[in-house]
Amino acid sequence: MICTVNKLNKSYKNNKVLNNISFNIEHPQILALVGPNGSGKSTLMNCMMNLISFDSGEIKILDMDNRNPSIFKSVSYLKDNRILYPYLSGYDHLKYICDIQKLDYKNIAKVAEKVGIDNFYKKRVDTYSLGMKQRVLLAMSIINNPKLILMDEPLNGLDTDSIFSFRDLIKELHAKGTTILISSHTLSELDYITNDILFLKDGSIIYEDIEKYKQTEYKILVNDKSQLKKLDNFLSSNYSLENYNNNLSTNELIIKLNAGEINKIIKFIYENNIEIERIISKTYGAEDRYKQIFNIN
Ligand SMILES: Nc1ncnc2c1ncn2[C@@H]1O[C@H](COP(=O)(O)OP(=O)(O)OP(=O)(O)O)[C@@H](O)[C@H]1O
Ligand SMILES: [Mg+2]
Repeated sequence: MICTVNKLNKSYKNNKVLNNISFNIEHPQILALVGPNGSGKSTLMNCMMNLISFDSGEIKILDMDNRNPSIFKSVSYLKDNRILYPYLSGYDHLKYICDIQKLDYKNIAKVAEKVGIDNFYKKRVDTYSLGMKQRVLLAMSIINNPKLILMDEPLNGLDTDSIFSFRDLIKELHAKGTTILISSHTLSELDYITNDILFLKDGSIIYEDIEKYKQTEYKILVNDKSQLKKLDNFLSSNYSLENYNNNLSTNELIIKLNAGEINKIIKFIYENNIEIERIISKTYGAEDRYKQIFNIN
């Protein structure tokens, strides 16, 4: 078992933040931790990494109690950049990790290249931008080849390019068998990374594999009325009212489909020479599920 959190309770004075939380991570996976500001994501991660105490419950990491310091050989925690020392360089930080983890300094250059810090990591941290600091943190969190990485809002401050490479890196780590628990408010980005989401709501965990909700909504616009009617006849005889919503007055046909199902419709359009104005698609994702869970319209 990679991680077990069992009946975890955590309060700050009389503010109950985590209320009897339980979940398991059984096999290498990318798991997102999602919830509004103040819902307890950082608190949960801090408890898991034994940075703060909790009131009751049990946390096991790689089958060991989370207070056992030997877990840090195989686990890392990417927290916010306040942990960086402004007068030291990125290189100094990586060297420090190599020292405490008894790793060869040869790993530093490799990891620096991988996360794209090799052209600045010998400069002092106080000269870095937010995104540069974030990349140094990322390098620090992967240099020990961990089995489990907890990442608290690692996307903060990353530019578009860095987000793309972060995505690839996460997938590469996962393919090598690393488990990643990642908190983020950038829900659209999570759609690219994982379907497995732990939502934190009112102190409780709601685990969702949002794959099962991942239908795509297609809005098909046809300007010619007779062609519109033809397509409407085809769609209404093949799809249920639950998934098909026609609005002939606006020339829009709206249909919800599972992945791959659009092919049948495209074939019909093609074979019947129907002229389409355009098709707009929108896939249900983490953001839509978030809105449902937190009752946001
Ligand atoms: N050291 C602390 N002392 C007292 N209360 C705290 C402390 N740290 C967090 N809290 C409270 O615990 C709750 C959860 O905070 P936490 O930082 O875990 O939320 P979060 O989900 O990480 O939020 P964010 O999305 O803003 O990072 C909040 O009500 C916060 O005020
Ligand atoms: Mg937080």
